[in-house]
Amino acid sequence: QMAHQAERQGWHLYLVGGAVRDVLLADSSAELALTDIDLVVDGFYQAAQVGAGVSLAQGIKHSHPEVDLQVYGRFQTAALVWHRDGDSSLASLMIDIATARTEFYPYPAANPEVEASSIRQDLYRRDFTINAMAIRLTQPGAGLLLDFFGGWVDLHHRCVRVLHANSFIEDPTRIYRAVRFAVRLAFQIDPQTEGFIHHALDSGIYTQMQQQVAKVPALQTRLKNELKYILEAAYWQPALGLLDKLGALKCLHSQLAMSERLWHQLRRVSRWIQRFDFEHHLVPWQMRLEVLLAELPKSERSRVAKNLQLPQPTIDRLAHLDHLESDWRQTLPACQTPSQIVQQLRRHDLATLLLVSARHPRPLGQIIWRYLTHWAEVRPPLNGHDLKQLGYRPGPRYRQILAALLAATLDGHIQSR
Ligand code: CTP
Repeated sequence: QMAHQAERQGWHLYLVGGAVRDVLLADSSAELALTDIDLVVDGFYQAAQVGAGVSLAQGIKHSHPEVDLQVYGRFQTAALVWHRDGDSSLASLMIDIATARTEFYPYPAANPEVEASSIRQDLYRRDFTINAMAIRLTQPGAGLLLDFFGGWVDLHHRCVRVLHANSFIEDPTRIYRAVRFAVRLAFQIDPQTEGFIHHALDSGIYTQMQQQVAKVPALQTRLKNELKYILEAAYWQPALGLLDKLGALKCLHSQLAMSERLWHQLRRVSRWIQRFDFEHHLVPWQMRLEVLLAELPKSERSRVAKNLQLPQPTIDRLAHLDHLESDWRQTLPACQTPSQIVQQLRRHDLATLLLVSARHPRPLGQIIWRYLTHWAEVRPPLNGHDLKQLGYRPGPRYRQILAALLAATLDGHIQSR
Protein backbone atom coordinates (compact mmCIF):
# COMPACT_ATOMS: atom_id res chain seq x y z
CA GLN A 1 0.00 0.00 0.00
CA MET A 2 2.76 2.41 0.88
CA ALA A 3 4.64 1.62 -2.32
CA HIS A 4 1.53 2.32 -4.40
CA GLN A 5 0.91 5.55 -2.57
CA ALA A 6 4.52 6.60 -3.16
CA GLU A 7 4.30 5.68 -6.86
CA ARG A 8 1.20 7.86 -7.24
CA GLN A 9 3.20 10.79 -5.86
CA GLY A 10 6.15 10.05 -8.13
CA TRP A 11 8.36 9.07 -5.17
CA HIS A 12 10.51 6.01 -4.70
CA LEU A 13 10.26 3.94 -1.55
CA TYR A 14 13.26 1.88 -0.37
CA LEU A 15 13.90 -0.79 2.19
CA VAL A 16 17.21 0.25 3.81
CA GLY A 17 19.70 -0.59 6.56
CA GLY A 18 19.71 -3.73 8.67
CA ALA A 19 16.69 -5.31 6.99
CA VAL A 20 18.45 -5.30 3.61
CA ARG A 21 21.53 -6.83 5.22
CA ASP A 22 19.44 -9.53 6.87
CA VAL A 23 17.48 -10.28 3.68
CA LEU A 24 20.70 -10.68 1.71
CA LEU A 25 22.31 -12.80 4.41
CA ALA A 26 19.31 -15.03 4.97
CA ASP A 27 19.47 -18.61 3.90
CA SER A 28 16.83 -18.80 1.14
CA SER A 29 15.37 -21.97 2.68
CA ALA A 30 14.89 -20.39 6.12
CA GLU A 31 12.05 -18.13 7.11
CA LEU A 32 13.13 -14.57 7.87
CA ALA A 33 11.05 -12.68 10.42
CA LEU A 34 11.71 -8.97 10.11
CA THR A 35 10.33 -7.08 13.09
CA ASP A 36 12.17 -3.81 12.67
CA ILE A 37 12.00 -2.30 9.21
CA ASP A 38 13.50 0.96 7.97
CA LEU A 39 12.08 2.60 4.86
CA VAL A 40 13.24 5.71 3.05
CA VAL A 41 11.23 7.80 0.60
CA ASP A 42 13.07 9.56 -2.16
CA GLY A 43 11.48 11.82 -4.78
CA PHE A 44 12.38 13.83 -7.80
CA TYR A 45 11.65 17.24 -6.35
CA GLN A 46 13.46 18.07 -3.18
CA ALA A 47 10.69 20.32 -1.89
CA ALA A 48 8.20 17.48 -2.23
CA GLN A 49 10.38 15.11 -0.22
CA VAL A 50 10.25 17.00 3.03
CA GLY A 51 7.60 15.23 5.05
CA ALA A 52 7.01 12.57 2.38
CA GLY A 53 7.73 9.73 4.83
CA VAL A 54 5.29 11.20 7.33
CA SER A 55 2.59 11.51 4.70
CA LEU A 56 3.00 7.84 3.65
CA ALA A 57 2.77 6.76 7.28
CA GLN A 58 -0.38 8.83 7.72
CA GLY A 59 -1.86 6.98 4.73
CA ILE A 60 -1.29 3.65 6.51
CA LYS A 61 -2.72 4.97 9.76
CA HIS A 62 -5.82 6.09 7.86
CA SER A 63 -6.52 2.59 6.51
CA HIS A 64 -5.23 0.73 9.62
CA PRO A 65 -6.43 2.73 12.61
CA GLU A 66 -5.18 0.03 15.01
CA VAL A 67 -1.59 0.97 14.21
CA ASP A 68 0.34 3.39 16.45
CA LEU A 69 1.78 6.33 14.55
CA GLN A 70 4.52 8.52 15.95
CA VAL A 71 6.04 11.45 14.12
CA TYR A 72 9.49 12.81 14.83
CA GLY A 73 9.13 16.19 13.18
CA ARG A 74 12.65 17.52 13.23
CA PHE A 75 14.03 14.48 11.44
CA GLN A 76 11.08 14.08 9.09
CA THR A 77 10.58 10.55 10.32
CA ALA A 78 7.48 8.56 11.19
CA ALA A 79 7.19 5.26 13.03
CA LEU A 80 4.36 2.77 12.65
CA VAL A 81 3.99 0.13 15.34
CA TRP A 82 1.80 -2.95 15.16
CA HIS A 83 1.19 -4.46 18.60
CA ARG A 84 0.96 -8.14 19.30
CA ASP A 85 -2.54 -9.18 20.43
CA GLY A 86 -3.44 -5.64 21.38
CA ASP A 87 -0.80 -5.54 24.14
CA SER A 88 0.77 -2.11 23.75
CA SER A 89 3.93 -3.15 25.61
CA LEU A 90 4.80 -5.79 22.99
CA ALA A 91 5.69 -4.37 19.62
CA SER A 92 5.52 -7.09 16.98
CA LEU A 93 6.35 -4.98 13.93
CA MET A 94 7.90 -1.57 13.76
CA ILE A 95 8.33 0.37 10.54
CA ASP A 96 10.35 3.56 10.48
CA ILE A 97 9.76 5.77 7.45
CA ALA A 98 12.25 8.52 6.80
CA THR A 99 12.57 11.04 4.04
CA ALA A 100 15.84 10.75 2.11
CA ARG A 101 18.23 13.18 3.66
CA THR A 102 21.79 14.11 4.12
CA GLU A 103 23.22 15.14 7.42
CA PHE A 104 25.97 17.41 8.44
CA TYR A 105 27.44 17.36 11.90
CA PRO A 106 27.84 20.84 13.39
CA TYR A 107 30.58 19.44 15.63
CA PRO A 108 31.82 15.92 16.26
CA ALA A 109 29.54 13.60 18.20
CA ALA A 110 26.55 15.93 17.89
CA ASN A 111 23.12 15.00 16.68
CA PRO A 112 22.93 15.46 12.95
CA GLU A 113 21.14 18.40 11.42
CA VAL A 114 18.87 17.36 8.63
CA GLU A 115 18.14 18.63 5.18
CA ALA A 116 16.39 17.02 2.25
CA SER A 117 18.54 15.13 -0.23
CA SER A 118 18.72 11.91 -2.17
CA ILE A 119 18.84 8.21 -1.31
CA ARG A 120 22.54 7.98 -2.10
CA GLN A 121 23.37 10.62 0.46
CA ASP A 122 21.00 8.99 2.92
CA LEU A 123 22.92 5.74 2.54
CA TYR A 124 26.28 7.50 2.70
CA ARG A 125 25.58 8.79 6.20
CA ARG A 126 25.17 5.23 7.52
CA ASP A 127 27.60 3.27 9.64
CA PHE A 128 28.89 0.29 7.62
CA THR A 129 28.79 -0.76 4.00
CA ILE A 130 26.73 -3.84 4.94
CA ASN A 131 24.08 -1.51 6.43
CA ALA A 132 24.21 1.03 3.60
CA MET A 133 22.32 -0.79 0.87
CA ALA A 134 18.74 -0.26 -0.26
CA ILE A 135 16.15 -2.33 -2.13
CA ARG A 136 13.66 -0.34 -4.22
CA LEU A 137 10.05 -1.23 -3.46
CA THR A 138 8.40 1.00 -6.08
CA GLN A 139 8.06 0.82 -9.86
CA PRO A 140 9.85 1.37 -12.12
CA GLY A 141 12.64 -0.94 -11.06
CA ALA A 142 11.05 -2.55 -7.97
CA GLY A 143 13.44 -5.12 -6.46
CA LEU A 144 16.55 -3.23 -7.58
CA LEU A 145 19.46 -3.39 -5.11
CA LEU A 146 21.21 -0.05 -4.58
CA ASP A 147 24.75 -0.75 -3.43
CA PHE A 148 26.97 2.32 -3.91
CA PHE A 149 29.66 1.42 -1.40
CA GLY A 150 30.45 -2.26 -1.87
CA GLY A 151 28.14 -3.68 0.79
CA TRP A 152 27.34 -6.81 -1.21
CA VAL A 153 31.01 -7.74 -1.56
CA ASP A 154 31.62 -7.02 2.13
CA LEU A 155 28.69 -9.24 3.08
CA HIS A 156 30.26 -12.06 1.12
CA HIS A 157 33.71 -11.39 2.55
CA ARG A 158 32.13 -11.17 6.01
CA CYS A 159 33.63 -7.79 6.60
CA VAL A 160 32.55 -4.80 8.73
CA ARG A 161 33.79 -1.67 6.97
CA VAL A 162 32.94 2.00 7.44
CA LEU A 163 32.14 4.25 4.51
CA HIS A 164 34.58 7.00 5.40
CA ALA A 165 37.45 7.80 7.75
CA ASN A 166 35.43 10.16 10.00
CA SER A 167 32.64 7.74 10.76
CA PHE A 168 33.71 7.00 14.35
CA ILE A 169 34.52 10.64 15.08
CA GLU A 170 31.04 11.63 13.96
CA ASP A 171 29.44 8.89 16.01
CA PRO A 172 31.65 7.03 18.52
CA THR A 173 28.85 4.62 19.39
CA ARG A 174 29.59 3.06 16.01
CA ILE A 175 32.67 1.51 17.61
CA TYR A 176 30.29 -0.53 19.75
CA ARG A 177 28.14 -1.30 16.73
CA ALA A 178 31.16 -2.52 14.75
CA VAL A 179 31.93 -4.95 17.57
CA ARG A 180 28.32 -6.03 17.85
CA PHE A 181 27.98 -6.84 14.15
CA ALA A 182 31.40 -8.48 13.97
CA VAL A 183 30.64 -10.83 16.85
CA ARG A 184 26.98 -11.44 16.08
CA LEU A 185 27.49 -12.20 12.40
CA ALA A 186 30.95 -13.80 12.83
CA PHE A 187 32.45 -11.09 10.59
CA GLN A 188 35.88 -9.47 10.83
CA ILE A 189 36.38 -5.74 11.29
CA ASP A 190 38.27 -4.54 8.21
CA PRO A 191 41.88 -3.57 9.20
CA GLN A 192 41.57 -0.02 7.88
CA THR A 193 38.28 0.38 9.78
CA GLU A 194 40.03 -0.89 12.90
CA GLY A 195 42.66 1.79 12.28
CA PHE A 196 39.89 4.42 12.21
CA ILE A 197 38.59 3.08 15.52
CA HIS A 198 42.04 3.49 17.09
CA HIS A 199 42.35 6.93 15.59
CA ALA A 200 38.99 8.01 17.02
CA LEU A 201 39.88 6.63 20.44
CA ASP A 202 43.36 8.20 20.37
CA SER A 203 41.87 11.54 19.40
CA GLY A 204 40.10 11.57 22.77
CA ILE A 205 36.60 11.16 21.47
CA TYR A 206 35.70 9.31 24.65
CA THR A 207 36.71 12.25 26.82
CA GLN A 208 34.35 14.32 24.76
CA MET A 209 31.62 11.73 25.30
CA GLN A 210 32.04 11.91 29.03
CA GLN A 211 32.43 15.65 29.33
CA GLN A 212 29.74 16.80 26.95
CA VAL A 213 26.87 14.94 28.51
CA ALA A 214 24.80 18.07 28.86
CA LYS A 215 25.53 19.13 25.28
CA VAL A 216 24.92 15.77 23.62
CA PRO A 217 22.71 13.68 25.94
CA ALA A 218 21.52 11.68 22.93
CA LEU A 219 25.02 10.29 22.54
CA GLN A 220 24.91 8.77 26.02
CA THR A 221 21.47 7.32 25.26
CA ARG A 222 22.86 5.71 22.12
CA LEU A 223 25.88 4.41 24.03
CA LYS A 224 23.57 2.93 26.67
CA ASN A 225 21.48 1.26 23.98
CA GLU A 226 24.55 -0.27 22.38
CA LEU A 227 25.77 -1.49 25.78
CA LYS A 228 22.36 -2.99 26.38
CA TYR A 229 22.39 -4.83 23.04
CA ILE A 230 25.86 -6.20 23.74
CA LEU A 231 25.46 -7.09 27.40
CA GLU A 232 22.10 -8.80 26.98
CA ALA A 233 23.15 -10.86 23.97
CA ALA A 234 24.21 -14.49 24.21
CA TYR A 235 27.55 -13.35 22.75
CA TRP A 236 28.25 -10.74 25.46
CA GLN A 237 31.57 -12.30 26.43
CA PRO A 238 33.31 -12.27 23.02
CA ALA A 239 31.83 -8.82 22.35
CA LEU A 240 33.13 -7.41 25.61
CA GLY A 241 36.48 -9.07 24.94
CA LEU A 242 36.70 -7.39 21.54
CA LEU A 243 35.66 -3.99 22.95
CA ASP A 244 38.44 -4.35 25.51
CA LYS A 245 40.98 -5.42 22.89
CA LEU A 246 40.15 -2.34 20.83
CA GLY A 247 40.46 -0.12 23.91
CA ALA A 248 36.85 0.95 23.44
CA LEU A 249 35.82 0.54 27.08
CA LYS A 250 37.50 3.92 27.45
CA CYS A 251 34.29 5.39 26.06
CA LEU A 252 32.72 4.53 29.40
CA HIS A 253 35.66 5.62 31.53
CA SER A 254 39.32 6.22 30.77
CA GLN A 255 40.38 3.65 33.38
CA LEU A 256 38.00 0.85 32.50
CA ALA A 257 39.72 -2.29 31.21
CA MET A 258 39.01 -5.98 31.55
CA SER A 259 41.03 -8.17 33.92
CA GLU A 260 40.79 -11.84 34.89
CA ARG A 261 39.22 -10.77 38.16
CA LEU A 262 36.58 -8.67 36.40
CA TRP A 263 35.74 -11.54 34.01
CA HIS A 264 35.22 -13.80 37.03
CA GLN A 265 32.96 -11.22 38.64
CA LEU A 266 30.84 -10.89 35.49
CA ARG A 267 30.47 -14.64 35.05
CA ARG A 268 29.67 -15.05 38.73
CA VAL A 269 26.96 -12.40 38.72
CA SER A 270 25.44 -13.97 35.58
CA ARG A 271 25.36 -17.42 37.21
CA TRP A 272 23.89 -16.07 40.44
CA ILE A 273 21.14 -14.21 38.58
CA GLN A 274 20.10 -17.51 36.98
CA ARG A 275 20.29 -19.28 40.31
CA PHE A 276 18.48 -16.76 42.52
CA ASP A 277 16.35 -14.39 40.49
CA PHE A 278 13.31 -16.68 40.38
CA GLU A 279 10.90 -13.86 39.72
CA HIS A 280 13.00 -12.23 37.03
CA HIS A 281 13.13 -8.89 38.79
CA LEU A 282 16.72 -8.28 37.79
CA VAL A 283 17.85 -7.08 34.40
CA PRO A 284 20.93 -9.17 33.57
CA TRP A 285 22.56 -6.65 31.22
CA GLN A 286 22.19 -3.91 33.83
CA MET A 287 23.70 -6.12 36.50
CA ARG A 288 26.67 -6.86 34.25
CA LEU A 289 27.05 -3.16 33.62
CA GLU A 290 26.90 -2.48 37.36
CA VAL A 291 29.73 -4.94 37.90
CA LEU A 292 31.76 -3.14 35.21
CA LEU A 293 31.05 0.28 36.71
CA ALA A 294 31.79 -0.96 40.22
CA GLU A 295 35.33 -1.53 38.95
CA LEU A 296 35.81 2.23 38.56
CA PRO A 297 37.24 4.42 41.31
CA LYS A 298 34.54 4.77 43.94
CA SER A 299 34.02 8.50 43.39
CA GLU A 300 33.35 7.94 39.66
CA ARG A 301 30.91 5.04 39.70
CA SER A 302 27.60 6.75 40.20
CA ARG A 303 28.57 9.72 38.00
CA VAL A 304 29.17 7.42 35.03
CA ALA A 305 25.95 5.53 35.78
CA LYS A 306 24.08 8.83 35.88
CA ASN A 307 25.58 9.97 32.57
CA LEU A 308 24.37 6.74 31.01
CA GLN A 309 20.91 7.45 32.43
CA LEU A 310 20.79 4.13 34.26
CA PRO A 311 17.87 3.61 36.68
CA GLN A 312 18.03 5.40 40.03
CA PRO A 313 18.38 2.18 42.11
CA THR A 314 21.51 1.35 40.08
CA ILE A 315 22.95 4.83 40.61
CA ASP A 316 22.20 4.61 44.35
CA ARG A 317 23.67 1.11 44.67
CA LEU A 318 26.91 2.24 43.04
CA ALA A 319 27.01 5.40 45.16
CA HIS A 320 26.73 3.41 48.42
CA LEU A 321 28.68 0.33 47.38
CA ASP A 322 31.99 1.28 48.90
CA HIS A 323 30.48 2.15 52.25
CA LEU A 324 28.41 -1.03 52.31
CA GLU A 325 31.32 -3.27 51.35
CA SER A 326 33.62 -1.91 54.03
CA ASP A 327 30.85 -2.21 56.57
CA TRP A 328 30.08 -5.83 55.63
CA ARG A 329 33.74 -6.81 55.43
CA GLN A 330 34.03 -5.87 59.09
CA THR A 331 30.70 -6.98 60.49
CA LEU A 332 29.54 -10.07 58.57
CA PRO A 333 32.51 -12.39 59.24
CA ALA A 334 32.35 -11.32 62.89
CA CYS A 335 28.71 -12.40 63.32
CA GLN A 336 28.34 -15.22 65.84
CA THR A 337 24.91 -16.48 64.82
CA PRO A 338 22.83 -16.83 61.64
CA SER A 339 20.20 -14.49 63.06
CA GLN A 340 22.75 -11.67 63.27
CA ILE A 341 23.63 -12.17 59.62
CA VAL A 342 20.00 -12.31 58.54
CA GLN A 343 19.28 -9.13 60.43
CA GLN A 344 21.90 -7.31 58.37
CA LEU A 345 21.17 -8.79 54.97
CA ARG A 346 17.39 -8.86 54.89
CA ARG A 347 17.20 -5.08 54.49
CA HIS A 348 18.98 -5.28 51.13
CA ASP A 349 17.64 -6.17 47.73
CA LEU A 350 18.83 -9.12 45.66
CA ALA A 351 20.76 -6.87 43.25
CA THR A 352 22.89 -5.49 46.09
CA LEU A 353 23.55 -8.96 47.47
CA LEU A 354 24.59 -10.29 44.06
CA LEU A 355 26.78 -7.30 43.26
CA VAL A 356 28.72 -7.62 46.50
CA SER A 357 28.92 -11.42 46.19
CA ALA A 358 30.31 -11.15 42.68
CA ARG A 359 33.01 -8.74 43.82
CA HIS A 360 33.93 -10.48 47.10
CA PRO A 361 33.41 -14.21 46.71
CA ARG A 362 35.25 -14.83 49.97
CA PRO A 363 34.19 -14.35 52.67
CA LEU A 364 31.17 -12.14 51.80
CA GLY A 365 29.96 -14.21 48.82
CA GLN A 366 30.04 -17.39 50.93
CA ILE A 367 28.00 -15.80 53.68
CA ILE A 368 25.50 -14.31 51.23
CA TRP A 369 25.22 -17.67 49.42
CA ARG A 370 24.31 -19.35 52.72
CA TYR A 371 21.80 -16.59 53.39
CA LEU A 372 20.15 -16.92 49.96
CA THR A 373 20.12 -20.70 49.83
CA HIS A 374 19.12 -21.37 53.40
CA TRP A 375 18.53 -18.68 55.99
CA ALA A 376 16.36 -16.40 53.84
CA GLU A 377 13.84 -19.28 53.58
CA VAL A 378 13.62 -20.04 57.27
CA ARG A 379 10.24 -19.27 58.86
CA PRO A 380 9.42 -19.32 62.60
CA PRO A 381 6.99 -22.01 63.80
CA LEU A 382 4.27 -19.45 64.46
CA ASN A 383 2.94 -16.60 62.38
CA GLY A 384 0.69 -13.63 63.16
CA HIS A 385 -2.40 -15.70 62.65
CA ASP A 386 -1.21 -18.26 65.23
CA LEU A 387 -0.51 -15.49 67.75
CA LYS A 388 -4.06 -14.27 67.35
CA GLN A 389 -5.38 -17.79 67.88
CA LEU A 390 -3.31 -17.98 71.06
CA GLY A 391 -5.11 -14.91 72.32
CA TYR A 392 -2.49 -12.19 71.78
CA ARG A 393 -4.02 -8.88 70.81
CA PRO A 394 -2.63 -7.59 67.43
CA GLY A 395 -0.20 -4.69 67.94
CA PRO A 396 3.44 -3.66 67.80
CA ARG A 397 4.42 -6.52 70.08
CA TYR A 398 3.60 -8.95 67.27
CA ARG A 399 6.64 -7.79 65.37
CA GLN A 400 8.91 -8.22 68.37
CA ILE A 401 7.57 -11.68 69.14
CA LEU A 402 7.83 -12.82 65.52
CA ALA A 403 11.37 -11.42 65.22
CA ALA A 404 12.42 -13.22 68.38
CA LEU A 405 10.85 -16.46 67.13
CA LEU A 406 12.64 -16.12 63.80
CA ALA A 407 15.99 -15.50 65.49
CA ALA A 408 15.49 -18.52 67.77
CA THR A 409 14.60 -20.67 64.76
CA LEU A 410 17.57 -19.47 62.72
CA ASP A 411 19.94 -20.13 65.60
CA GLY A 412 18.54 -23.65 66.07
CA HIS A 413 16.91 -23.10 69.47
CA ILE A 414 13.49 -24.04 68.12
CA GLN A 415 12.25 -26.03 65.14
CA SER A 416 11.23 -24.18 62.01
CA ARG A 417 7.69 -24.30 60.66
N1 CTP B 1 22.77 3.54 11.77
C1 CTP B 1 23.96 4.24 11.62
N2 CTP B 1 24.68 4.65 12.72
C2 CTP B 1 24.22 4.40 13.96
C3 CTP B 1 23.01 3.70 14.13
C4 CTP B 1 22.31 3.28 13.02
O1 CTP B 1 24.37 4.47 10.51
N3 CTP B 1 24.91 4.80 15.03
C5 CTP B 1 22.01 3.12 10.57
C6 CTP B 1 22.48 1.80 9.94
O2 CTP B 1 22.35 1.90 8.56
C7 CTP B 1 21.51 0.78 10.48
C8 CTP B 1 20.22 1.59 10.57
O3 CTP B 1 20.64 2.93 10.89
O4 CTP B 1 21.39 -0.32 9.64
C9 CTP B 1 19.21 1.11 11.59
O5 CTP B 1 19.78 1.11 12.88
P1 CTP B 1 19.51 -0.06 13.90
O6 CTP B 1 18.08 -0.44 13.87
O7 CTP B 1 20.12 0.32 15.21
O8 CTP B 1 20.44 -1.21 13.30
P2 CTP B 1 20.19 -2.46 12.43
O9 CTP B 1 21.23 -2.47 11.36
O10 CTP B 1 18.78 -2.57 12.00
O11 CTP B 1 20.62 -3.58 13.44
P3 CTP B 1 19.78 -4.68 14.22
O12 CTP B 1 19.58 -5.76 13.20
O13 CTP B 1 20.68 -5.09 15.33
O14 CTP B 1 18.53 -4.00 14.69
